[in-house]
Amino acid sequence: MKIDETIKQSGKEHGVPISLDDTLSFICKTINENNCKSVLEIGTAIGFGSITIAENTTCEFIDTLEIDKDRYLQAQKNVEAHNLTDKINLHLIDAMDYLKSTTKTYDFIYLDGPKGQYINYLPHILKILKKGGILVADNLNFHGMVTGAIPISKGCRAMIKGLKKYIATITTHPALITQILPIGDGLGYSIKK
Ligand SMILES: C[S@@+](CC[C@H](N)C(=O)[O-])C[C@H]1O[C@@H](n2cnc3c(N)ncnc32)[C@H](O)[C@@H]1O
Repeated sequence: MKIDETIKQSGKEHGVPISLDDTLSFICKTINENNCKSVLEIGTAIGFGSITIAENTTCEFIDTLEIDKDRYLQAQKNVEAHNLTDKINLHLIDAMDYLKSTTKTYDFIYLDGPKGQYINYLPHILKILKKGGILVADNLNFHGMVTGAIPISKGCRAMIKGLKKYIATITTHPALITQILPIGDGLGYSIKK
């Protein structure tokens, strides 16, 4: 898989959370194997995920959402440097506002924004995910805090509660077939029936 190590390094140096290589490798393989053409990423950060997906898959376009202006501007620079402005559409927006207002539908959605909001995004995601479409949600282990392997840090309680509710909902939802995969920090892999 083609990876821009410079962007990855810069993310680490500036404390920007970016996706793990094995997570992106799984996502790219899934997009290619299922011939997904339209992709939505919730949580752009500095564009590492969307650039990796754009360069390693046959998808036609990626819409990606970021609320933080500095990260959005850095993502814009990175996307331009990779000549991917035709394939990656960056949106400076609160993901909930986008999910509530968009009229687009997607073959593949990568949920990697605010973890405590996954459960609130889900009903909107289900409306814009095509039948047979795939939803991958990152960080469902949240470094072991969801399973109880490590104690929940101060300030993370509500987020972990939200993640647990998200897991319980996707694994029992009548419109979804879901597996929780031990890849990266734990992935929710759901197919819309
Ligand atoms: C884990 S990072 C995304 C990493 C990215 N997917 C990648 O692979 O490089 C999550 C991002 O979601 C953004 N975010 C947080 N709340 C948001 C919201 N309400 N709407 C859109 N983006 C949000 C954060 O600013 C952060 O940059």
